Parts: sequence; C-alpha cells; structure tokens
Amino acid sequence: MATIVPSVSWPGACWTLLVCCLLTPGAQGQEFLLRVEPQNPVFPAGGSLLVNCSTDCPSSKKIILETSLSKELVDNGTGWAAFQLSDVTGNSRILCSGYCNGSQITGFSDITVYSLPERVELAPLPSWQPVGQNLTLRCQVEGGSPRTSLSVVLLRREEELSRQPAVGEPAEVTATVPTSRKDHGAHFSCRTELDMKPQGLGVFWNTSASRQLRTFALPVTPPRLVAPRFLEVEKSSPVNCILDGLFPASEARVYLALGDQMLNVTVTNHGDRLTATATARADQEGAREIVCIVILGGERLEARENLTVFSFLGPILNLSDLSAPEGSTVTVSCMAGARVQVTLDGVATAAPGQPAQLQLNATESDDGRSFFCSATLEVDGEFLYRNSSVQLRVLYGPKIDRATCPQHLKWKDKTRHVLQCQARGNPYPQLRCLKEGSNREVPVGIPFFVNVTHNGTYQCQASSSRGKYTLLVVMDIEAPNSPSVPVVLAVLVIVGVVTVVVALMYVFREHKRSGRYHVRQESTSLPLTSMQPTEAMGEELSRAE
Ligand SMILES: *[C@@H]1O[C@H](CO)[C@@H](O)[C@H](O)[C@H]1NC(C)=O
Ligand SMILES: *[C@@H]1O[C@H](CO)[C@@H](O)[C@H](O)[C@H]1NC(C)=O
Ligand SMILES: *[C@@H]1O[C@H](CO)[C@@H](O)[C@H](O)[C@H]1NC(C)=O
Ligand SMILES: *[C@@H]1O[C@H](CO)[C@@H](O)[C@H](O)[C@H]1NC(C)=O
Ligand SMILES: *[C@@H]1O[C@H](CO)[C@@H](O)[C@H](O)[C@H]1NC(C)=O
Ligand SMILES: *[C@@H]1O[C@H](CO)[C@@H](O)[C@H](O)[C@H]1NC(C)=O
Ligand SMILES: *[C@@H]1O[C@H](CO)[C@@H](O)[C@H](O)[C@H]1NC(C)=O
Ligand SMILES: *[C@@H]1O[C@H](CO)[C@@H](O)[C@H](O)[C@H]1NC(C)=O
Ligand SMILES: *[C@@H]1O[C@H](CO)[C@@H](O)[C@H](O)[C@H]1NC(C)=O
Ligand SMILES: *[C@@H]1O[C@H](CO)[C@@H](O)[C@H](O)[C@H]1NC(C)=O
Ligand SMILES: *[C@@H]1O[C@H](CO)[C@@H](O)[C@H](O)[C@H]1NC(C)=O
Ligand SMILES: *[C@@H]1O[C@H](CO)[C@@H](O)[C@H](O)[C@H]1NC(C)=O
Repeated sequence: MATIVPSVSWPGACWTLLVCCLLTPGAQGQEFLLRVEPQNPVFPAGGSLLVNCSTDCPSSKKIILETSLSKELVDNGTGWAAFQLSDVTGNSRILCSGYCNGSQITGFSDITVYSLPERVELAPLPSWQPVGQNLTLRCQVEGGSPRTSLSVVLLRREEELSRQPAVGEPAEVTATVPTSRKDHGAHFSCRTELDMKPQGLGVFWNTSASRQLRTFALPVTPPRLVAPRFLEVEKSSPVNCILDGLFPASEARVYLALGDQMLNVTVTNHGDRLTATATARADQEGAREIVCIVILGGERLEARENLTVFSFLGPILNLSDLSAPEGSTVTVSCMAGARVQVTLDGVATAAPGQPAQLQLNATESDDGRSFFCSATLEVDGEFLYRNSSVQLRVLYGPKIDRATCPQHLKWKDKTRHVLQCQARGNPYPQLRCLKEGSNREVPVGIPFFVNVTHNGTYQCQASSSRGKYTLLVVMDIEAPNSPSVPVVLAVLVIVGVVTVVVALMYVFREHKRSGRYHVRQESTSLPLTSMQPTEAMGEELSRAE
C-alpha cells in the first residue's frame, strides 16, 4: 500500500488531512470501527466500484463517503451505506465517516487502478541490415500504469534481448544488438509487462506487432564478368556474370546489358555464389560495353568489359562448274566482306576486300582436287581466321590402263587366275570382258578357274555416260600336254625293253634257259610303276609357267 501513496490524487489527500485533523474522534465512539469495503481494491482504470461503509455501532448516524470521485448513494440500511463510484481513473484514498453515540468514527480504503498500455510499437527496422553491424531496436510505449510495475522487453523471436523499466510518456526503450546471417528473416518485437502480482493480480502482457529483419552481406570484390572480346554481328554468344560471397544470394537482383540493350538474364544461385547468364547478340558493328550490375540490400556492385561487334562475311569459295568436263576452263573465285583479306590456294590478294580468282584447264588429274581459301579479318589488333574449301570434279574417261591390263595372257588349263584389269573415269565406268564370237563374259579382278573353253580373244570394254573404251585381251589357254606323256612312256618302255634284253642276255649266258618265265612277269609290271613320276613332272611344269 505504501508504494501507492505517492500516486494518490491531490483532492483525495486534502480530504484525508481535513478529516484527520479537524474531526477528533470521541473516546466512546472509537470502540466501534467504520469498515470500508472493499479494502484497498485494485482494478482496471475507468471502471466503477461499489463501496460499502458499515459499522457495528447500534446508534450510527450520517454515514457518508468522502471522495473527490463522482459517487452516488445506492442503498443504505442500519449501520451501513453503499455508494457507487464511477469513472475511477487514478489511484485514490476514499474515506467513510459517520457518528456513533455522538462521536465521529472513520475508516478508509486505498483504491489502486491499473491500465494496460495504449500503444506498444517497435520502430521500423532498416529495410536491409548489413551483417556484422549493430542494429538499434527502439520501442515506444504509451500509457500503462502503474509505471513502477511496467517494464519493456525487446525480443528477437522468443529470445529476450533487453529488459528495461518504462520511463517517460511515451516511454522509449532502445537496445543495440549485433546482427548475423542468422538474423535474416528473424522477427523482432517489443513486449510490455505490467506486473500486478504484489497487488494480488497476475502479470499483464502487451506485445507490439513484429517486424522482420533482412540482413545482407556483399563482397568487396566486383562481379566476374565472362564475356567474349569479339562478337560477330547477328551471332549469339553467352555472357556470364559470377559473384561469390553474396548473402542472401537468392535476393540479389542482377542486370546484364550490352550497350544500352538489356539482356534477358537467367540467374542461378548455389550457396553464396550467384551466376547470371545471358545471350549477347548485336545487329550493328562497333564497340560496345557489357555491364553486369548486382544489387542487394540497396547496394550495388558492377563489372564492365569492352566488346567489339564485327562483321565477317565469307570466305565464299566458288567454282564456275562443280563438275567440269575434261579440257574445259574452270574459274575458282574466293570473296569475302570488306576489310577481309583472302588467300586462295596460297596466293593472297593485294589488299583486303578484293576477291581472289584463278583459272585452270580441267584435266583428269584435277578430279578430286581441293581448293582452299582462307580469310583473315583484323579486329582490334587481333586476327580472326576463316577457311573454306571446295572440291572440283572433272568428268573424263572412260579409260583402261594398258599397264594394269596385260593384253596377252598365256595360262594353263584347269588353273586358277585373276584377270587384272582396271578402268578409270568420272563417272566411274563399268568394265566387262566378253569373248569374241560367243559373248561369254569372264570375271575381272576375281579369281576363276581357267579351262580350254576360255581360249580366245576378249573385248574388255569400259563404259560410262561419257562413252566407251575397248581393249582386246588374248587369252591363250594351253590344253593338257597329251603328246608329252606317251613320249615319256615310250622312252621308258624302250629303256625297259633294252634293260630286259640286256638282262636276259646275261641270264641266258649264265643259266642257259631257266630265266624266260621270269622276264615276262617283270615286263608287265614296269610300265605301271613308271606312270607316277611322269604325272608329277607334268604338274611341276604347269606350276613353273
Ligand atoms: C453493507 O454491509 C452491511 C454489513 O456488513 C450489510 O448488511 C449490507 O447488506 C451491505 N450492503 C450492500 C449493498 O452490500
Ligand atoms: C437512508 O438515507 C436516507 C436519505 O439520506 C435517510 O433519510 C434515512 O434515514 C437513511 N436510513 C438509514 C437507516 O440510515
Ligand atoms: C452512549 O453514551 C452514554 C454517555 O455518554 C453512555 O451512557 C452509553 O452507554 C453509551 N452507549 C453506548 C452504546 O456506548
Ligand atoms: C493489451 O492487452 C490487452 C489484453 O491482452 C488488450 O485487450 C489490449 O488491446 C492490448 N493493448 C495494446 C495497446 O495492444
Ligand atoms: C556494437 O556494439 C558493441 C557494444 O554496444 C560495440 O562494442 C561494438 O564495437 C559495436 N560494433 C559495431 C560494428 O559498431
Ligand atoms: C526472355 O526469356 C524468356 C524466357 O526464357 C522469354 O520468354 C522472353 O521472350 C525473353 N525476352 C527477350 C526480350 O528475349
Ligand atoms: C573500354 O574502352 C574504353 C575506351 O575505349 C576504355 O577507356 C576502358 O578502359 C575500356 N575498359 C576496359 C574494361 O577495358
Ligand atoms: C558461282 O559462280 C557462278 C559462275 O561464275 C555463278 O553463276 C554463281 O552464282 C556463283 N555462285 C555464288 C554462290 O557466288
Ligand atoms: C588452257 O589451254 C589453253 C589452250 O588449250 C591454253 O592457251 C591456256 O594457257 C591453258 N591454260 C592453262 C592455265 O593452262
Ligand atoms: C584455317 O587455315 C589456316 C591455315 O591453314 C589454319 O592455320 C587455321 O587453323 C584454319 N582455321 C580454321 C578455323 O579451320
Ligand atoms: C570350263 O569352265 C566352265 C566354267 O568356267 C565350265 O562351265 C565348263 O564345263 C568347263 N569346261 C571343261 C571342259 O572343263
Ligand atoms: C587357241 O586359240 C588360238 C587362236 O586364238 C588358236 O590358234 C589355238 O589353236 C587355240 N588353242 C586351242 C587348244 O584350241
């Protein structure tokens, strides 16, 4: 109760003084007390209160309530009177007085009112807070009483950062806290606590609307811009802009521009790394600047690179005739755009921008010949190269090479051979060898069995859309050597007969007549045994040829 006294309103205090000093209570009257109910009530400000002044004194009179507050007698009875107090906004002491047996009796009660703050507000936070810097939280509280029981708490999520008493009207409480990455997205708020526990009530809380903090971190280094130094007109080239150490990377905005043309950016982030990609493309030649701007937390980082847009036409390599007939004149030309130097077949033109040309009489050896044209363009001190090649087709033939196609062949019967003949020409000719008279075809370039029926003269003809070419090939097939075998046999028989005769003469001389039957047996067996070596000899002969 003592703590409340200083807050008692002045009119109430005057009444108390007046009553206490002027009306000295009589000796008898003091035996009876004048009760004031409720005793020392605590209730919300602005409410109303029913106060009952009562006494046990049997002859009580004139019970009144002395207060500066607006009051109304509600009811009365013997020894009591009830009053309604309305609009109680502040603390005050109310006093009941009356008379008992002629002497005055009094009683009092201290009214304590409390009120919840009318406004609890956390000042707006910076829209972006750099990580590592101190953040000042500011909370304003309007109203709320009794102030001695009112404290203000600053909170990060549920965590209590600072607790201070509410002083002043409005009361302002501040706290400074360091911020980290973890604070990104954290809710901060301010809470008032009116502790009415000593008065027999609880603690009343009021909380401000929460505010969300966004923290950020930017590296000191500029972004890394990966862009080509040269860009060809109307060609696309990728451009990358990379920045590490960015927090929160997902909240950064990235702009990529080529000259005054904004590029369509695709942004990806992985951890603290941000990668922006775009496709650069220009329609006009000239020097440009590529700019990459990263914005986060109201701060920006940028990188710039120079880029030259160039036009490189060609080389256009042209043949007057892609398939030229043999003997015709072919013109090879190579052109490129202005400022481009061309080199055709190793010969450079006198000055850039000039076309190169060469002429040739198409010959068989030019078939399949490649012409090569290289173009060189100087852009900003650097040389850019481009090549082009074209292949000439010369139409010629058909022809059969006499060197690769023997015109006289001498082969043995029943042996395996290949007719080696090749035709040339563009378009590639068809080659067929047909026997004169019978039109019988022999395979060319493929092994085949030769027999006497192949003997004769052949017309080997190469034919294409450009004409025909014929070469005669004589195939001389040697029939099996039939006379040679009987001759050998005859010689052997003669040698055998002579041997037998010489032997018989010898035997006859030594044993007179006993050997005659013996001779007949040997003479029959001799020609049979001699057949085999003769055949072997014949085979060897045919192989040697
Ligand atoms: C006031 O107090 C007296 C005595 O305690 C009681 O008899 C009476 O009913 C009370 N009046 C009211 C309005 O409470
Ligand atoms: C009640 O109050 C009225 C008006 O003030 C008064 O006339 C009456 O005597 C009172 N009754 C008692 C029992 O005090
Ligand atoms: C009232 O006072 C008179 C004398 O002054 C006394 O005789 C009487 O007993 C008292 N009554 C009560 C109830 O105290
Ligand atoms: C304080 O809290 C009470 C009850 O919880 C509520 O009725 C009142 O509107 C709050 N006041 C403010 C300023 O938020
Ligand atoms: C943050 O505040 C603390 C104490 O209030 C102080 O020591 C520190 O230097 C401050 N840091 C910055 C970055 O201002
Ligand atoms: C940018 O890219 C989106 C989708 O990739 C596409 O729809 C849009 O047309 C592009 N805008 C420009 C100006 O290229
Ligand atoms: C780009 O070119 C301008 C003028 O040609 C020059 O001043 C600047 O330094 C160049 N920037 C870069 C990054 O090379
Ligand atoms: C190539 O040259 C021929 C003849 O000179 C011409 O008719 C043709 O149009 C040229 N082609 C190109 C692509 O220049
Ligand atoms: C092509 O042939 C013609 C005549 O046949 C000749 O005059 C000319 O010099 C030849 N050209 C070349 C490049 O050989
Ligand atoms: C073009 O040809 C030059 C010379 O032969 C060679 O050095 C270069 O690599 C070639 N370039 C291309 C793109 O083929
Ligand atoms: C010779 O060979 C042909 C096939 O190459 C065959 O048709 C023919 O019968 C043969 N003639 C002889 C006599 O062997
Ligand atoms: C093979 O043909 C030639 C003529 O082409 C002829 O002289 C020769 O006798 C023929 N040989 C045989 C075995 O028919």
